[in-house]
Parts: sequence; C-alpha cells; structure tokens
Amino acid sequence: MRIDKLIQTVCGLLEQYFQVLLDSNSRKSFRNSDSLWGNMKSGKRNLGRPSLLISQYVLTSKMKNIKMDALECIKTKLDISEFDPDRKISAEVKMNVLEAARMTGSGVNSQHWRFVLVQDKHNLRKLARDSTTGKWIENCNFAVILLTNPSLKFHQIDAGRAAQDMQLAAWNSGVGSRFFTGIDAQGLAGDFGIPRDLSATLVLGFGYPRKNIKGKKKNRKPLSELSFIESFGNKLDPTKLSLS
Ligand SMILES: Cc1cc2nc3c(=O)[nH]c(=O)nc-3n(C[C@H](O)[C@H](O)[C@H](O)COP(=O)(O)O)c2cc1C
Repeated sequence: MRIDKLIQTVCGLLEQYFQVLLDSNSRKSFRNSDSLWGNMKSGKRNLGRPSLLISQYVLTSKMKNIKMDALECIKTKLDISEFDPDRKISAEVKMNVLEAARMTGSGVNSQHWRFVLVQDKHNLRKLARDSTTGKWIENCNFAVILLTNPSLKFHQIDAGRAAQDMQLAAWNSGVGSRFFTGIDAQGLAGDFGIPRDLSATLVLGFGYPRKNIKGKKKNRKPLSELSFIESFGNKLDPTKLSLS
C-alpha cells in the first residue's frame, strides 16, 4: 500500500473512532474543556502520545464543523445590537441565513415572503435612517429586509418564524443578530424599491458580537410562571409528565 493511502486509511479510522466518541455524549466535555490535551490527560481514555497528536489534529478539524444542537442554539442566542466592525462574514454564512428563511414553513405554504440582503455600508446607513427603533443597524455587517404580503392574515407569524430561523442559522456560526420593527415604511419603500403589495415587516441586522456573549444569562420568566397542564392555571409538575 502506498504511504499516502496508508495515512489516509489510518486518519479515516481515527476519524470514525472519534466520531463515535463525539456522538456518545462526550461532545460536551470536549467542547467545554480548555484544551483537548488537558481533557485527554485527565480523562479515562489513555490513547498514547502519537495517536493522541494525530487524533487531536483530526478532532480539531472535525470540531470546526460541529455546530450546536438546536436547543443549545435557541438557549444561547441573544439579540445583540453591538457588532464587531472588523470581523467579516463569509458568503457561505450569508447564504445559510437566506436558506434557513427559505426552508421555513409558511401559512398554506404560500411562501409570500421576500428577502432583500443589504451589505453596502451606504445602504445600511439608509436602513438606519428608515428605522425608528433600530438605529444600531448602521453598524451591523449585513441586514435582511423581510417583506411579507399583508393581505394574508398570518403574514406576521410567517415573518416571525423566518426571522427566528435566520437568527438561529447565523448564531449556529457564531454570528449574532437582532431585528427591528419600527419602520418608516414610505422611506424604506423609496430607498429599496419595495413593491406596493409587499410590506416591510421587520429588518434584521447580523454581525459577529462586539463583546463576548457566550454564557450570558437570558432574562426570562421561569417556566413555572408561564406554563400549565391540561387547563389554564393548573400548575405543571415536570415529574408528573407521562411518557405516552
Ligand atoms: C416582535 C419583536 C419586535 C422587536 N422589535 C425590536 C425593535 O424594534 N428594535 C430592537 O432593537 N429590538 C427589537 N426586538 C428585539 C427584542 O427587544 C429582544 O428580542 C428581547 O429584548 C429579548 O432579547 P434577548 O433574547 O437578547 O434576551 C424585537 C423582538 C421581537 C420578538
């Protein structure tokens, strides 16, 4: 066997081995550890130094593709309005954001929404001018104007769903976001050529966070205050939730 083939096979096997490790709940401890090396040293598995170095390489590159699971993404996402001006956002991430919007379900699958991506600084300034509650948009990396058909009674629900999916897709790559709803509709229509039959329901701004927001707590009411079981007012006891 040629040496490059041999290396390829060994790396493939290591990759599969570590994928099993990652899938079997070790994901979290790897991600949370300061260094993989430290984790391995203190961990139960002793793999020996050479294989450890190769596997560290394989794992590190693999981990770059490991995204958050859906619940973690929802729980850690915060709406931010301070963006890092120096960090650019790849076309891939921008396309993922739009793809997430496209994949969102809409009432009777009408797909009436339209998305205008804005990345030109001059146009971002125009967006800020056309906003009454989102002047911060000027400093984001790119924005998306979310248009919906106001003649559909559920159009705002559709807008909210698409917006949340876009935000989660962005956050999945570490890109933060926020949207505003206070819009000078006339100004925006004029500046961005919005057709009469569509309404600019909200405008999202995206960018890498200026401050580290990882691990920051969300200000939310407890579930005990928000949720009931069977009828309103009936306190939900999590220990009594049935399996069926
Ligand atoms: C329907 C809706 C309208 C919103 N409108 C605005 C807005 O006009 N301007 C703004 O800066 N943020 C707006 N937000 C963002 C909220 O202020 C934000 O989601 C809330 O404070 C929770 O933020 P957190 O997830 O970071 O805790 C809006 C959010 C929603 C869901």
